[in-house]
Amino acid sequence: MRILVTGGAGYIGAHVVELLQARGDEVGAVDDLITGIPERIPGVVIHELDLADTHSVPRLSEILTTARIEAVVHFAARKQVLESVQRPAWYFQQNIGGLSNLILAMESAGVRNLVYSSSASVYGNAVGAQIAEDAPTVPVNPYGMSKLQGEYLVAAAGTAWGLRGVSLRYFNVAGAGSDRLGDRAVLNLVPMILERLDQGESPLVFGADYDTPDGSCVRDYVHVSDLADAHLAALDTLDSRPPGGTRSSTWARDWAPACWRWWRPCAG
Ligand SMILES: NC(=O)c1ccc[n+]([C@@H]2O[C@H](COP(=O)([O-])OP(=O)(O)OC[C@H]3O[C@@H](n4cnc5c(N)ncnc54)[C@H](O)[C@@H]3O)[C@@H](O)[C@H]2O)c1
Repeated sequence: MRILVTGGAGYIGAHVVELLQARGDEVGAVDDLITGIPERIPGVVIHELDLADTHSVPRLSEILTTARIEAVVHFAARKQVLESVQRPAWYFQQNIGGLSNLILAMESAGVRNLVYSSSASVYGNAVGAQIAEDAPTVPVNPYGMSKLQGEYLVAAAGTAWGLRGVSLRYFNVAGAGSDRLGDRAVLNLVPMILERLDQGESPLVFGADYDTPDGSCVRDYVHVSDLADAHLAALDTLDSRPPGGTRSSTWARDWAPACWRWWRPCAG
């Protein structure tokens, strides 16, 4: 298949690019390289552009057409919860604007298959030890809201012109498929812990009144390589799906069990 990966130079995107290449797919990437690192995906053509810029639509459409792209995996988004609280309009512009522009370009280029990176932050402060896929979606910050709006948009484009989309709601991605692909974002949990240890300091643990053995928050994590597998599995089902947006992770649990198993999530 010929696949375009938006945010392909990012942490999760680069893992998916590597898996796609390994099985012989032709892969291109779109990335503005704000948090993306080109060295993660050597040999892959990276079209450097900001998806949220309205002018990106004709350029994207041309990229899709020229490379005869059959499907898009969409990772490109801003993802810092605190920043989204401070700059909500910018988060919507980036995350919803970027997805809207992508879908406009896909429609104009006749590309119908899309895997969309949503987030378990769409559930907000869900109560209970596990969150079922059909739990109410009540995001509590602009980041989570933008991800949920994106799901609605994917579904609406399915109704309007036949986009076949699947939205994956994942939480707490960690690990690395190789040194080159590691997560270097200093605001993500595992790099933050390692940074503290590197400096000879203990990791800071916030929250002491959760209903857990020591009062601290307990989370499950999904390994980024398992998550990358789940994206390929999602991609491979799209041709046989009816148009519309399919939610997340029930079917993906066979591929990456931790994708759908969260225990007491306590942040977006
Ligand atoms: N990391 C997690 O724990 C986690 C959890 C749930 C959902 N997600 C979602 O997964 C996706 C990828 O996350 P990640 O951890 O790999 O983050 P990342 O920041 O490493 O990757 C995002 C990539 O998209 C690019 N990008 C962002 N906005 C763009 C824009 N407007 N135009 C072009 N490129 C743009 C960045 O430069 C970067 O390469 C995001 O959509 C995020 O919301 C991540």
